[in-house]
Amino acid sequence: MNDSVYKPKLLLLLCIATLSTAEQNIATTKQSPIQLNSVVGRIMGGYEANIAQFPYQVSIQQEGAHRCGGAIYSTTIIVSAAHCFELWDMPELFAVRAGSSEHERGGVLSLVRRIFVHPQFNPTNGVSDDIAVLALTHPLSFSVNIQPIPLASSADMTVASHTVFFVSGWGAVTDGSRLRSPRLLFVTLQQFEQRSCETTYANIVHVTEGMLCAGTVRGGRDSCQGDSGGPLVGYSRGQFVLVGVVSFGIGCGRPGIPGIYTRITAYKDWIELVAKQI
Ligand code: ARG
Repeated sequence: MNDSVYKPKLLLLLCIATLSTAEQNIATTKQSPIQLNSVVGRIMGGYEANIAQFPYQVSIQQEGAHRCGGAIYSTTIIVSAAHCFELWDMPELFAVRAGSSEHERGGVLSLVRRIFVHPQFNPTNGVSDDIAVLALTHPLSFSVNIQPIPLASSADMTVASHTVFFVSGWGAVTDGSRLRSPRLLFVTLQQFEQRSCETTYANIVHVTEGMLCAGTVRGGRDSCQGDSGGPLVGYSRGQFVLVGVVSFGIGCGRPGIPGIYTRITAYKDWIELVAKQI
């Protein structure tokens, strides 16, 4: 058997298995960012965010528990990762919480009407095309806490790639842990060069043009399990734009190992097409 074909499958399954485990929230900590920073692998380097700073961020809930992150594209459309939806044919199991810094309460909870998983997504051959679009049953009302984020264009990428990226979510707070953060966290990351990322992941996944890598050279700051589907944003021409969707990684926050994100520019046309059809 060809090992390189089976490794991605195994890793993805591991990733999904960790995700699927019931919520195991840690109690809200009163620690200062400095103390939080000392925990290696903690998403975002441990800074708590207010939803008003990330008003496009949503929590996607499956059967009442936080499952993945997502980004608001329009009043009725959410962009997320395909691997969050093995049950794509059962939208009634999913809901989206928008406008809250906590995934368990607050804001508004909207039901999901349909789930569109990218037609090329196939968890058995890796993590390519890890993107999905959700249609909500009722439109969201935009406010200071609920706002859409524009999809990055190629022109935006040439600007944004030189800026810091922000990723946010309620995912695992340490490498290998199943603990979810009850409050939204964020971290800043740099884009990694595609070539070096391909080399880093060479025997594990094929880093395609549809992926983008971001992390920190020293490690310690990263997205992690439960952040999947969530937004990676960059700053271009006066506004934040969605550049990636949290997809995959080996562990979290390991030095020199960036996270893999679905590259929005590669799927912009598909997202816009699906959004138009709904
Ligand atoms: N696959 C994970 C999830 O489903 C996301 C992993 C991101 N990992 C990373 N090191 N950036 O939540």
